[in-house]
Amino acid sequence: MKVSEEKIQQIRDSADIAEVISDYVTLKKKGKSLMGLCPFHQEKTPSFSVDSVKGLYHCFGCGAGGDVFNFIMEIENVSFPEAVKILAERYGISLPQFQMDETSSYETEILYYTNNTAKDFFISCLFQTRAGANALNYIKQRGFTSETIHTFNIGYAPNRWDGLILMAKRSNLPLQHLEKAGLIIKRKDREGYYDRFRGRIIFPISNRTGKVIGFGGRIIKERKNQPKYINSPETLIYKKGAQLYGLDIAKEGIRKRDRILLVEGYTDVMRLHQNEFDNAVSTLGTALTEKQAQILARYSKNVTLLFDGDSAGLKAALRGVDILFKTGLRVTIALLPKGIDPDSFLLAKSQKLMNEYIESAKSFVDFHLQQLQTRGSLDSPQTKAEAAKKLLDTVSHIRDPLERNFYIKDISEKIGVDERFLHNLQLRKNDKTDKNSFNTGKQHPENAEDILLIFLLENFIKWSKVIFDFIDEKDIISNSILLTIYKDYSQHKIRDENDIMDRFTANPEIKSYLTSLIARRKDTVTKGEDYNNLCADCIITIKKRNKKNRIKRCQEQIRKDQKYNKDVSQLQNEYFKLKKELVGFTKEMKDAVLKKIEKNS
Ligand code: GTP
Ligand code: MN
Repeated sequence: MKVSEEKIQQIRDSADIAEVISDYVTLKKKGKSLMGLCPFHQEKTPSFSVDSVKGLYHCFGCGAGGDVFNFIMEIENVSFPEAVKILAERYGISLPQFQMDETSSYETEILYYTNNTAKDFFISCLFQTRAGANALNYIKQRGFTSETIHTFNIGYAPNRWDGLILMAKRSNLPLQHLEKAGLIIKRKDREGYYDRFRGRIIFPISNRTGKVIGFGGRIIKERKNQPKYINSPETLIYKKGAQLYGLDIAKEGIRKRDRILLVEGYTDVMRLHQNEFDNAVSTLGTALTEKQAQILARYSKNVTLLFDGDSAGLKAALRGVDILFKTGLRVTIALLPKGIDPDSFLLAKSQKLMNEYIESAKSFVDFHLQQLQTRGSLDSPQTKAEAAKKLLDTVSHIRDPLERNFYIKDISEKIGVDERFLHNLQLRKNDKTDKNSFNTGKQHPENAEDILLIFLLENFIKWSKVIFDFIDEKDIISNSILLTIYKDYSQHKIRDENDIMDRFTANPEIKSYLTSLIARRKDTVTKGEDYNNLCADCIITIKKRNKKNRIKRCQEQIRKDQKYNKDVSQLQNEYFKLKKELVGFTKEMKDAVLKKIEKNS
């Protein structure tokens, strides 16, 4: 597909960049521009800005930027022609007839087209065939309205081996395309194919922009030797654990409410939307993945898990919490009575009661404690300690030290264990998860930043000269306190450790966190441990992370530029240079830090 410059300009003029980006990012007005959380890197404070007058976006955090086409290419991971097509479609601008063999996105376009055709076929089967009438009757009997059925594009796959195959022949759709889309399967014993979905209610699964990428199919009458649901296999456009059912429909509601309602099933999502809970999405029955959490984080940082109260639902909820925390999301949990999913709850009770359930969703600490209490497993010191350990497991995934500290405090108060004890557990846990003990240099970068904080709190004059000789702003990623101290240090505003405490007088949360760090040091760093090596190891860990990130960014830029057919030789040189710098880095760095320490003492 060759599109003229004029056409591209016409699309650029018609497309409202703020409107397009708003599909993915919640934008808020700040002065002249619109700001939001950057969808291309993890962040907690918005540094992603959109200038609708100029038609440009820019992220001050990661440097991503460009026009409306760049944005679509990046976020949808598509080529330039595809981005042009997406925007032209959206703004009703006609393009020269799309010709499959001329675009680079040949394969994905085929899949989208095939899925869309199949979706239409399934819908027509639901509404226009006798067997479909039976299925439709079942869906309606369950109390789903016509509107919901249409909104979710529900269909029906006829109960035969060649339903789609006949349709394909009628409409000149190559069977290989259906096979690539996972809709039909090659026969083993003889020539030909057969339908994957037979006699099932069809739930099309769409991506964020509403394009069908796969299908789920539910049996109508449950039978022992048949799975209740089957799904499309993975294809070029459908990756398991990388989509959320209903996100295309829920994204508006999520943005409006600044909250995601996360459930397990297709029918739960449908029922919730039918009852005005328009922010519900589901994981498609599988355990929540990090990828899914990252996608969710683009739309809102607040997630409420709404699960069946049976043990499977409970387990799934708790696993989900860890992943959501890791991604920097805030989580509350509402567990329904045993054996009741959101769908059956709404059917049996009311919208109002459901709302009360969701409103009273608990923090994960309260939730967990309630679970333990009802099982009577919180009545001895031993069980308390065990519970504390379990909770800390999850808390250790929280990236922000302040937020983590808040939870630790909460746990200590509610279980009745000493906060210091919890901090120790947490520190030891981190050491263990990093496989090595405190001074073997394998700290997790976040942990390493904390340890450097401890050094600074212990003897600022001595350690600041060493640490900040190697570490600067660019290296400090996850620890806002360390960053603040660095900035003050470089402006000569902090001279000793007392100044640090004074600096945070107005912020008791931070003060108490620092105090806990000091306590941690006294309790865990035993005599004889090698401070100098520890400090060097932490610095190395942090510097290495920075280097690796730069390599990753460089790689990404190369990929991007290659998409535009730009010259990437310079970037490639840079890439190899960075890679080379990593060789022997640990040893060189260690020597340098140790030398510096020696010189200072
Ligand atoms: P209804 O029974 O129609 O209300 O569906 P449900 O969504 O409540 O089903 P259930 O609670 O049993 O399962 C929750 C989700 O897990 C479903 O929506 C599916 O996404 C998934 N799931 C359930 N059973 C199967 C199965 O046999 N195979 C696969 N692949 N997924 C399943
Ligand atoms: Mn159900």
